Amino acid sequence: MYKNLDETKAFNNLLQLKEVDLIKELNEKRIKKYNVKSSKELNYNYASMPINDEILDSFQDLVDEIDIINRYKDLLSGNIANPGENRKVLHHLTRGNVLNKKIIEDKIDLDLFYKKELEKVFDFSTKVRNGEITGSTGKKIKNVVQIGIGGSDLGPRALYLALETYNPEIKAYFISNVDPCDANLVFRNINCEETLFILVSKSGTTLETLTNKELIFDLIKKENKDLILEKHMIAVTSKTSPLANDDSLLASFFINDYIGGRYSSTSSVGMLLLSICYGKDIAKELLEGAHDNDVNSLEKDIRKNASLLDALIGVYLRNVLDYPSTAILPYSQALNRFPAHLQQVDMESNGKSVNFYNNPINYYSGPVIFGECGTNGQHSFYQLLHQGTDIIPLQFIGFTNSQTKNDIVINNSTSQEKLNANLIAQIVGFAMGKDSDNPNKVFEGNRVSSLLYGKKLTPYALGSLLAHFENKIMFQGFIWNLNSFDQEGVQLGKKLANEVLDGCKNNKLLKAYLDLF
Ligand code: F6P
Repeated sequence: MYKNLDETKAFNNLLQLKEVDLIKELNEKRIKKYNVKSSKELNYNYASMPINDEILDSFQDLVDEIDIINRYKDLLSGNIANPGENRKVLHHLTRGNVLNKKIIEDKIDLDLFYKKELEKVFDFSTKVRNGEITGSTGKKIKNVVQIGIGGSDLGPRALYLALETYNPEIKAYFISNVDPCDANLVFRNINCEETLFILVSKSGTTLETLTNKELIFDLIKKENKDLILEKHMIAVTSKTSPLANDDSLLASFFINDYIGGRYSSTSSVGMLLLSICYGKDIAKELLEGAHDNDVNSLEKDIRKNASLLDALIGVYLRNVLDYPSTAILPYSQALNRFPAHLQQVDMESNGKSVNFYNNPINYYSGPVIFGECGTNGQHSFYQLLHQGTDIIPLQFIGFTNSQTKNDIVINNSTSQEKLNANLIAQIVGFAMGKDSDNPNKVFEGNRVSSLLYGKKLTPYALGSLLAHFENKIMFQGFIWNLNSFDQEGVQLGKKLANEVLDGCKNNKLLKAYLDLF
């Protein structure tokens, strides 16, 4: 029986501890000390978070009391970790076998299943890249279009964009929204004879994705009657979905029910796209970075386990200090869509009000997540972060070196140096604040933040960053005693939208809103 957070001794002890005043506590020693490796190329610094050694000791007590590492091991071992859907949770296996354990189901070795799919993905992507697989009129593939939504879009898109300076040999486009403008705009940019469409839907039933497939086919047919459309399309889906085994398609790749959509970036859902565009070596490097964080996440000592520590600090901010949201602030343009991806991973996983056993909980769970790249965000919403009435914890991300060599020195500094100067200035400004005789110019300080940082955003570092957050969110789910792996909250809207499309039945409210259009 897993305990609710408010039933634990350690949490009740945590509530009694004195809060930290960062303005008094932040110093050089602390910046060096409160630092931990998340993997070989990624570090987590928490010096500007409102914690101290006593609070950290309490975190360790909490972790030991709820036996969190064994709960992670249970998940890795293939025990049911998603009781709402009676499913295992196995996305870690898509990048390596952390416990080196076999997970057999119906005589199928699931580790082997993911490995074989990955081999299939790499084999296919190599053939597309070297021209062995072409479009139906014999032209070399120059574009891929991923059609999918939610986890079948956000993660793969964020990762693709994060690596764009690595010069994709094949360019990717994305269609996710059922707004017809989305598909139409992509269609304008591609020559369909040189394009491969990757239809991604784990369930194979998602309205947006199936509609967009038909819309894009319709647009192509109108322009080029000779194209054999199915030979320009591959699918990534689960074996039980209606999309599975469509022999008319060029190829099909599979995930299974144990890979949740928002955790599917390291499965065929993300790897097909990345290996077609960037080649399998880059995809492999990314998987290695993710796996190394998965391994580090087994560490029992919280001071050595970056994802777990990040999770605990997040819980402290939410449940002791009552902060309702968190901003993700990457000082790296490559991570432009990363906050959008994390929004889904975090909010769809931990935006819950019942526990693992379906009983209501009496404490706050997942925060609202939003974010934007620095320095763009500074010229947008940082005003509220500095002087607004809410304190919003901040997760900064930054890298010493840029992904590009093309930089310029102006007024004695490069653009990259200017970027990082801003990042550092913000951390210190938020923490320390500034006094003034003019109340309008007062910065209270004690605006808390953490920093994930590395030398460069390589594919390896990107994989580590992805897994760092996936594992952080998983640990938070354990601490809040939630099922982080189902998403019942998105069903009601889908059902009502279908009612509207069916003519609103007897629902007068739906009809009244429909009449506005
Ligand atoms: O609507 C929510 C959701 O089920 C997400 O969890 C998922 O990522 C997305 O829809 C897409 O689902 P599918 O891959 O089955 O089309």
